Amino acid sequence: MAQQSKNILSEIQGVESEFEKEVAAIDSVTKLETVRIVFLSKKGKLQSLFSHLGALDPQERPLVGAELNRLKNRIQEDLLEKKSALGSAKSPVDSFDPTLPGKTPSFGTIHPLMQVLGEIENIFMGMGFRVEEGPEIETEFYNFEALNIPEDHPSRDMQDTFYLPDNYLLRTHTSPVQIRTMQKQRPPVRMIAPGRCFRRDTPDATHSPTFHQVEGLCVDKGVSFADLKGVIMAFARKLFDAEVKVRFRPGFFPFTEPSAEYDFSCIFCSGQGCRVCKNTGWLEISGAGMVDPAVFGFVDYDPAIYTGYAFGMGVERIAMLKYQVHDIRIFYENDLRFLRQF
Ligand code: DAH
Repeated sequence: MAQQSKNILSEIQGVESEFEKEVAAIDSVTKLETVRIVFLSKKGKLQSLFSHLGALDPQERPLVGAELNRLKNRIQEDLLEKKSALGSAKSPVDSFDPTLPGKTPSFGTIHPLMQVLGEIENIFMGMGFRVEEGPEIETEFYNFEALNIPEDHPSRDMQDTFYLPDNYLLRTHTSPVQIRTMQKQRPPVRMIAPGRCFRRDTPDATHSPTFHQVEGLCVDKGVSFADLKGVIMAFARKLFDAEVKVRFRPGFFPFTEPSAEYDFSCIFCSGQGCRVCKNTGWLEISGAGMVDPAVFGFVDYDPAIYTGYAFGMGVERIAMLKYQVHDIRIFYENDLRFLRQF
């Protein structure tokens, strides 16, 4: 075979392997068109090989021509195949139909506990209280000691909690925020502290190892129990309705003296007696009292100059009353059938 024919045959081989590489890299219709032009157009690589045929030895022309035709067919077939492969794997842009109705995004709702918390905050902010926060992981000092609950005091038993290394614990109430606030601020203090609390409790319809409280504290010159009653009453009437009555019963908390428990007249029977209030006409809310002078001792406030009142309340308790929920556990189960009702 003449050298010229050998050269063309090896060029054909070169073009073929070049094509193989290029076709493998095609991933779009645009690239496919570029490759087609490079190999098959009038000025393409194949055409230039065909143009050399005339110069070959007439006897060798059919063989080289057949080889060229084989490559041309192969390139055409491969490109067709590639084209249909690209077409069936539709790109998102090709398959997007802008006239179809969109998917409605599902909006979440604010958790009922957080709704109630927000309402409580608004009412107290309207009366000049600031919202303070404290850590959920507390020290014994803030959770007990500085609230006048010494280590051997029996009232610690009622607030068993989860203990962490180095005398840390999960706070059992929001009362420690009273101490933290008084430590960083001189009177007058008027604050509420909403937040999550923890106790070692077995869950049932009215108990949960985690729950929420709102603490309240007001310290200034000349603050009296009458101020406490006025604020709690204003709160009750704003939260429920203008007819709600408030009563204070003697109670005990180590950090208040005197201490009281306060009840609201039953919002379901207007105090007549019903299933919810267990026929008493009253709903127990929480505790309150005048800040014990011993507590002032821990924060360096002079009890001869300042007096104050404090109160606490359970957010779950209020939400259960407000929405007539009979089992506290449902607040924490993330059951959408429940949550979507709010
Ligand atoms: N910290 C108390 C508890 O969890 C509630 C409480 C009672 C808070 C009386 C107060 C208060 O601020 O004065 O049981």
